[in-house]
Amino acid sequence: MSKRFSRITGTGSYLPPRRVTNADLAAELATRGIETSDEWIVERTGIRARHFAAPDVPASELAVPAARAALQAAGLQPSDIDLIIVATSTPDMVFPSTAAIVQHKLGMAGCPVFDVQAVCSGFVYALTVADALIANGTARRALVIGAEVFSRILDWSDRTTCVLFGDGAGAVVLEASDTPGILATDLHADGKYVDILCVPGHVSGGQVLGDPVLKMDGQAVFKLAVGVLDKAARAVLAKAGKQESDIDWLIPHQANLRIMMGTAKKLHLPVDKVIVTVQDHGNTSAASIPLALDHGVRSGKIQPGQTLLLEGVGGGFTWGAVLLNL
Ligand code: UT7
Repeated sequence: MSKRFSRITGTGSYLPPRRVTNADLAAELATRGIETSDEWIVERTGIRARHFAAPDVPASELAVPAARAALQAAGLQPSDIDLIIVATSTPDMVFPSTAAIVQHKLGMAGCPVFDVQAVCSGFVYALTVADALIANGTARRALVIGAEVFSRILDWSDRTTCVLFGDGAGAVVLEASDTPGILATDLHADGKYVDILCVPGHVSGGQVLGDPVLKMDGQAVFKLAVGVLDKAARAVLAKAGKQESDIDWLIPHQANLRIMMGTAKKLHLPVDKVIVTVQDHGNTSAASIPLALDHGVRSGKIQPGQTLLLEGVGGGFTWGAVLLNL
């Protein structure tokens, strides 16, 4: 039997309507006695604005319109889908999975659904799992979604983190194909770095114990990120027998413009080969890569047949890359 590959056949994304610029956020934080500025945020991160979901809007509400847009782009109906994976660290509930909630909201039933929790590497992890489940015949048409409401887990008294994140969702339809599609994947984690990026709180005995807000040692994350992203990029290129020069577009996790440009430089890629949305979205964790991918596709930059390098890095510490032909 010939090997089964997987291929992205549609992309979609959704941002909640409330857009908050750095100036808006600085003014809001000033009322709480927290000092920050547009200049600092732009210079250190490249972020100029982010979107925040209304307090009663959970991750699944962002995931569903992103999924519908991806389905429409692929020319499919929800009933054509036989697997849903949602990458999220801000699920609607402790359980069941946000994927189960999304399945029901899409009017579907029966197919396997689950969440993947790998923080900002979540989409790359989810895409790798979906690719494997298509290759082994478990599924033929998967929805792979990254959806986050990080605004819920921010400490608004900590200016070193609360200016960095936003809410949103991105999705792809991944279909079985006789030709790749996904060329190579590479995933890693090192749990000794749990403390440098975490939300340490948990539910116990009917109460939240520990701190339920994001803690980050930004400099430690920054240093690790640049090194591991380069290794993951080289690993997928080697697995696929490709060169740096074969990459048409680098679509990195959108956390910090300096990390993205550092990664591109190490790969000898010109900056205009990097899809950058961090200025408009902030860091949307597992949603950032599919949001950037959809933006690149819908803006006409990314063309069918091109070779894309997707790279994620984040809490865990987790990291990974996917090399694919669109
Ligand atoms: O999504 C998972 C992956 N996450 C990341 O990739 C994040 C990686 N890390 C980063 O992006 C950067 O480390 C940050 C953007 C978080 C911080 O940038 P930095 O250049 O490492 O700044 P820093 O932490 O060294 O802080 C420099 C200064 C400090 O003041 P002093 O001690 O030099 O007087 C901070 O107190 O900037 C100050 N500062 C701020 N000032 C204004 C920190 N946050 C702010 C702020 N506004 N929001």
